Amino acid sequence: MIAVRVEDRAGACASFAARPGERLLHAGLSAGLGLPYECATGTCGGCKATVTEGEVRSLWSAAPGRRVCRRPGEILMCQSAVASETLALKLPTAFREAGEPASGVRVGRISGFRHLTREIGTFSVELDAPLRHVPGQFALISAPGVEGPRAYSMTSAPSSNPRLDFLARLSEPGGLTPLLFSSALDGCEVNVFGPLGRATLRPDDDRPFLAIAGGSGIAGMLSIVEAALAGGHFGRRPSRLVFGLRKPEGAFLLDELADVVRRSQGGLRVTVAFSDEPPGPGFAADFSDLEAAQGLAHEVVRADLSAIAAERPIVFVAGPPPMVDATMRMLVMEAKVSPAEIRFDRFG
Ligand SMILES: Cc1cc2nc3c(=O)[nH]c(=O)nc-3n(C[C@H](O)[C@H](O)[C@H](O)COP(=O)(O)OP(=O)(O)OC[C@H]3O[C@@H](n4cnc5c(N)ncnc54)[C@H](O)[C@@H]3O)c2cc1C
Ligand code: FES
Repeated sequence: MIAVRVEDRAGACASFAARPGERLLHAGLSAGLGLPYECATGTCGGCKATVTEGEVRSLWSAAPGRRVCRRPGEILMCQSAVASETLALKLPTAFREAGEPASGVRVGRISGFRHLTREIGTFSVELDAPLRHVPGQFALISAPGVEGPRAYSMTSAPSSNPRLDFLARLSEPGGLTPLLFSSALDGCEVNVFGPLGRATLRPDDDRPFLAIAGGSGIAGMLSIVEAALAGGHFGRRPSRLVFGLRKPEGAFLLDELADVVRRSQGGLRVTVAFSDEPPGPGFAADFSDLEAAQGLAHEVVRADLSAIAAERPIVFVAGPPPMVDATMRMLVMEAKVSPAEIRFDRFG
């Protein structure tokens, strides 16, 4: 084990131990430190730090997030491991309050992959021990033969069950998801690191929420909605989910969402926004508990800005980066929502 010292922008200091080869972000989060991060997989640049003493080894030199590392010594903590006897890092931000459950490693087996459409499927990981998470969090899955971990959001509400449920969107070419879709990973042993993520529903949240999901961004929202149902949130704080899809053909989870609306007894309103093609005339009859609209998810939300101004809801946004960015821009510029109020996950 090697001691890593970290100093944040305000001069606060902390330290943690890292094993050779271990990702610095994982080691620090496992020690309960509030290190900055967003994707935890090398794409966003949100875990940048500067090495002030010692050396690190890059675990993925082509990581897109490295574009933010312009000065000497700047590294991504999620893609670096210690490579010297001592290491000291300086953060460009303050330590975050570590409000979420501590992260750790589990071993699990992939099970029950099921196609919902050609591009969307669900699967589970049966863990050796439960992984306590809060609704809206994600985990990193590492599979044998695949370089680097991949992020997937838990769809299941928190429970003591050692099984986690996920939803995956097929991306081609891809390293891990296509293996899930071809069933090549059924029964396969994987490492799971988590829980991660701060786009969560917290126990003391007592405001309405507005959740905006694009495509597979619905994954973490399912966990949030289930936890909100279990906690009686919708009885106290009527909320809304806007689910963006391209076309009615290839739509998924609509039966499940209609069921959630029924169970919320009117406390949750779900709008499905189709961007490329309007819903057919049969939609209202097939899904009378859901609303349908044509347009991008954020455009559908924009049509009702007065509700945001009146209710000041907690806002969740998740999906592909362009969708998340367009939604955040609209919310900040037009709905005057403070960026600090938006809990988001960019799936990129
Ligand atoms: C917070 C968050 C939550 C997400 N939740 C979901 C979800 O619930 N469902 C879903 O379908 N998608 C989700 N995604 C997106 C998902 O993680 C990517 O689409 C997924 O990685 C695709 O994996 P792949 O193997 O198919 O594609 P690939 O193209 O093989 O991998 C894409 C990602 O893998 C990582 N990667 C690739 N090569 C390496 C390497 N050599 N070393 C290290 N890392 C590497 C990078 O992060 C890269 O962006 C989420 C993303 C984030 C950031
Ligand atoms: S958190 Fe490390 S690059 Fe996104």
